[in-house]
Amino acid sequence: PADVLVTVDAGRLWRAEQMGLFQPIESKVLAERLPAHMRTPDNQWFGFSARARVIIYNKAAVNPADVQNYEDLAHPKLKGKVCTRSGSHIYNLSLMSALIEHLGETKAEQWAKGVVANFARAPKGGDTDQIRAVAAGECGVAISNSYYYVRLMKSTKPEDRKAIAATGLIWPNQKSFGTHMNVSGAGVIKTAPNRAAAIRFLEYLTSDSAQTYFASGNNEWPVVKNVPLDNKALESLGKFKMDTLNISALGRNQPAAQKIFDRVGYK
Ligand SMILES: [Fe+2]
Repeated sequence: PADVLVTVDAGRLWRAEQMGLFQPIESKVLAERLPAHMRTPDNQWFGFSARARVIIYNKAAVNPADVQNYEDLAHPKLKGKVCTRSGSHIYNLSLMSALIEHLGETKAEQWAKGVVANFARAPKGGDTDQIRAVAAGECGVAISNSYYYVRLMKSTKPEDRKAIAATGLIWPNQKSFGTHMNVSGAGVIKTAPNRAAAIRFLEYLTSDSAQTYFASGNNEWPVVKNVPLDNKALESLGKFKMDTLNISALGRNQPAAQKIFDRVGYK
């Protein structure tokens, strides 16, 4: 039997919570080291590193001024230009959950409808496929998790060099709620045979060295304050305003997000 579940995306961690897999844990170390928005209110799961969901655009085809916000992706100006992976994928459901929190359900649904109306093609493939399609000009803009872009930035393959050269990265919503952030996270399993050790392991993940190591492994940002990056490509992207919505909201709004995507045909 397992002691700890480590996985990516707040939506998945929330699903595990809904299945009753976690137990709440009391830890002074986690409470002190992790920022409040990386801890769920009843301490069942936590975020240990962060990824951004960004906008990638084709430099030759799209004016970056037109795509500074998630909301812009629904503007008729971008008709036939938007590419994303499937709406049933957890990354998009979690982004939608954040938008529901910030904009309210009505506006969030209008947004989803607008995005679907702007599709260059029916959703297919993963985030890297969207970046490649933007580079190739099949799409003008795409939504992608940041680490997929960083992976391409680090690649020495000629086609990846070309993809990076042809595209730009935008941190969405810098003038409002900040760029949507998601996490790699973990919680202690309800039936953990080694409960005390499991808690100590999660506490260890908040140490400076573990934060740098854990975050770098997937080209993500440490969540503990003042922990240095050890990742030149990620560092080169610079600083930006991150959304500090509590990760529990990304879970709580999943059912509403799914209903909206179903209604607007975002498959
Ligand atoms: Fe991923």
